Amino acid sequence: MEYKELAKIAVEAKTKAIPAYSKFRVGSALITEDGKVFSGGNIESSSYSLTLCSERVALFKALSEGYRNFKAIAIASDDPGFCSPCGSCRQVLNDFCSGIDVVLINHKNELKIFKLGELFPFPFGDANLT
Ligand code: THU
Repeated sequence: MEYKELAKIAVEAKTKAIPAYSKFRVGSALITEDGKVFSGGNIESSSYSLTLCSERVALFKALSEGYRNFKAIAIASDDPGFCSPCGSCRQVLNDFCSGIDVVLINHKNELKIFKLGELFPFPFGDANLT
């Protein structure tokens, strides 16, 4: 699947977000190495810190279905510019898919593509725990 198509799925996922408090919608679409797509929107809790970002919703859906190998995650938001994943999501993405492409989408449907390693250099991870 082209990243343009994955981006469209992220934009659609944004419409299913539940940003009850911030009102800021984010949608993500994660594609596995074998082409299966998992999408998610951010979900907020009245206990604000329990909020889950769209990236982790999509990733946890995929992990809980048994998928482990990922190629890219596309991210769309209510920011007219490019919304980049937060620090917590960068950590979790690095834990499960460190080589992934991160595809950011703005309101003109333009894409910016990064390797996760560019956004999250010198990470803490598995190797530190051995
Ligand atoms: N949010 C995401 O879902 N992904 C990001 O990359 C940045 C922030 C959510 C968390 C919260 O629900 C709202 O956006 C405002 O921070």
